[in-house]
Amino acid sequence: MQYWIMGAGGIGCALAETLAARGEQVLLLSRTRPELSDLAWSQTTWHAVDNTDASAVAETCNQYPLPATVINTLGMLQQGEQQPEKRIEQLTESAFYNSLHINTWPTLAMAQYLATRLTRTDQLHFAALSARVGSISDNRAGGWYSYRISKAALNMAIKTVSIEWQRRFPDALIVGLHPGTVATDLSAPFRAGLSEGQLHTPMQAATHLLQVLDNLIPEQSGRIWAWDGQEVLP
Ligand SMILES: NC(=O)c1ccc[n+]([C@@H]2O[C@H](COP(=O)([O-])OP(=O)(O)OC[C@H]3O[C@@H](n4cnc5c(N)ncnc54)[C@H](OP(=O)(O)O)[C@@H]3O)[C@@H](O)[C@H]2O)c1
Repeated sequence: MQYWIMGAGGIGCALAETLAARGEQVLLLSRTRPELSDLAWSQTTWHAVDNTDASAVAETCNQYPLPATVINTLGMLQQGEQQPEKRIEQLTESAFYNSLHINTWPTLAMAQYLATRLTRTDQLHFAALSARVGSISDNRAGGWYSYRISKAALNMAIKTVSIEWQRRFPDALIVGLHPGTVATDLSAPFRAGLSEGQLHTPMQAATHLLQVLDNLIPEQSGRIWAWDGQEVLP
């Protein structure tokens, strides 16, 4: 398996499709069976796993040799009663923890798992999909407390792991990737006012993200890279 993909939402499935078209073997972990083309299924091994459950993920991944690349595509902006907050009064402890649980924890858990298997010379690429709204310096609009803070925490997690890995696994890298605004369930309620060309299809996003990720080198570890190759500043 050359790629492990965590999550089969809009971008996770598009990554599996794009990789399959390139002839890559993919291990795909998601809670429910994804809808993929026949071509993608021929290249994909799928397991029903909740990627927030670290022991279930480890149990599944233990069955396979380490891949060249791991991509965590999990993310949640709204779910059930939980809506992105416009005002501080709307923030609840349970929504906040839920966002950390889905948007931040699985990357730390996967990094922890990978550290148990990596050797000093492994050249693994590990990317987690982040978001530009997790940038502190770029925060002009405010709001979206749970999402923003959990993505900023994700970015800090990536930076912190990268410092440790530089010492322990100097040929491996861990980065965050901002996919742009992509037409998936996650962005569906929030696309009003986008200008022409600002909304990417999941397949376009997957192509951009793989292009960026394939060309990163260990010196670029710990940082957040956008779909166009530009760095997203912390
Ligand atoms: N779409 C955009 O415009 C946009 C913009 C910036 C950043 N991003 C980031 O890109 C990534 C992919 O987003 P997407 O657009 O592909 O979203 P999506 O289609 O809504 O997919 C969401 C993914 O998150 C997982 N997930 C959601 N709730 C979960 C829960 N309670 N427990 C476990 N897993 C859960 C799903 O897992 P299962 O597959 O197991 O169901 C799914 O794989 C996210 O990190 C998102 O923040 C997206």
